[in-house]
Amino acid sequence: MRLTVIGTGYLGAVHAACMAEIGHEVLGVDTDARKIEALAAGRAPFFEPGLPEILVRNIRSGRLRFTMSLQEAADFADLHFVCVGTPQRPGSLSADLSHVEAVVDGLAPLLTRDSLIVGKSTVPVGTTRSLSRRLAAAVRPGVEVQVVWNPEFLREGFAVRDTLHPDRLVVGATTPDGDRLLREVYAPMLQAGVAYVSTDPATAELVKVAANSFLATKISFINAMAEVCDASGADVVTLADALGHDERIGRRFLSAGLGFGGGCLPKDIRAFLARAEELQVSEAVSFLRQVDRINERQRRRTVDLARHLLGGSFAGRRVAVLGATFKPDSDDVRDSPALAVTAEITAQGADVRVHDPEGIDNARAALPGPEYHRDVVEACRDADAVLHLTEWRQYRELDPAQLAQVVRAPRMLDARNALDQAAWHEAGWHVRALGRPVHVPQPGQGEALRVTIPHALGAGCTAPMAGEPVSGVPK
Ligand code: UGA
Repeated sequence: MRLTVIGTGYLGAVHAACMAEIGHEVLGVDTDARKIEALAAGRAPFFEPGLPEILVRNIRSGRLRFTMSLQEAADFADLHFVCVGTPQRPGSLSADLSHVEAVVDGLAPLLTRDSLIVGKSTVPVGTTRSLSRRLAAAVRPGVEVQVVWNPEFLREGFAVRDTLHPDRLVVGATTPDGDRLLREVYAPMLQAGVAYVSTDPATAELVKVAANSFLATKISFINAMAEVCDASGADVVTLADALGHDERIGRRFLSAGLGFGGGCLPKDIRAFLARAEELQVSEAVSFLRQVDRINERQRRRTVDLARHLLGGSFAGRRVAVLGATFKPDSDDVRDSPALAVTAEITAQGADVRVHDPEGIDNARAALPGPEYHRDVVEACRDADAVLHLTEWRQYRELDPAQLAQVVRAPRMLDARNALDQAAWHEAGWHVRALGRPVHVPQPGQGEALRVTIPHALGAGCTAPMAGEPVSGVPK
């Protein structure tokens, strides 16, 4: 089939390449000239494992092209995927739909044949209906254009795999024709047995928002438990493992630590709160305010624990930060918890050296203050403390004994609960983590001695961080 993918960010670039990979003829469209130039040359404009390979392969085969022209898109195909961003509106919790609306407004008058617009962006429930009205007013007489919602569930870092092998496809169409066309698009996946949920547009829109809200709630739940663990001497990692054995609960998304960030979960729960208020059901989702607050508090608690580890002040202390992106295997620093902590400890007087395997350029652009290093050892040299803030695999592979020779003092805050804390402890490190009892180095004791310091973090955890985005839920 011939189709276009409008918006070539993390979602659209991957979707375009994957649609070509399963055999379609695809035209990717974006208003960003640099992005289009890179993609057309087979270069991914961001880090996503596996994307460069399928880009190059499909550009070479002639199935994948890129353009900045909506006219070319309208001429090329009758099925248009919309993958543009829906960021949080500044000063508000709601989603900014202006990019989606601009695509519809721009494309509608150019369409000369009956067409299907398929929304993939995450939008508030009710968007398909309002876009359909908007379209009806803008299309040429005699041309019929239908809007269908087909949300995307890919994760950054696994985007290619998630797009080619999704765990479900959800399509919200208003006519059998819309549904039939989407079944054709995804035929190879349906043949492979992927679940296909055919529904109305409102349900499709809501599935995505509900899925992200559920994931965010799961993370904040375990982070709330981490706080209880800190107050009681319990261990949140063992707690999560034990909870996870219950198949009804499951272990995934129960990793306690610095909390969630990125371009999706935080803004999606806020946009859901805003939409629920419009629908006069804010009480039903008011728990999401708490989910957001718990998540923001993890950043402050991490800063407090780091300061505690340093004896009460960051002033003049050298701190190495491992990880700047919002999660590993991505170069995305949007609403990155790691970068928020870095900004705060810099503001509190620390001399910060940041390492990240892929995110340094984006991090430096977002936060120019700290020194950035492409070498982990250099970032850690003479550090008074090391903060492990994003759980890249290479940090788990560090040799704690070797790194202990490089730092000024072997203090480690594992804010992702991802390191082998006993191994670091045995190599002489004083290891701290949210929700876990303290490892205190005891030379000659062999087995790690676990000493519980009940609730070392206290009242200080509630103060807002300097430079904290005003975008969060009002306190
Ligand atoms: C998320 C969803 O997982 C995708 O299904 C969805 O399609 C996507 O948003 C989107 O709306 O586009 P993503 O933002 O790539 O995907 O990242 P996740 O893997 O969900 O992680 C989000 C954040 O939660 C990260 O900062 C991660 O470090 C944190 N996290 C995750 C935890 O703190 N604990 C966990 O146990 C799991």
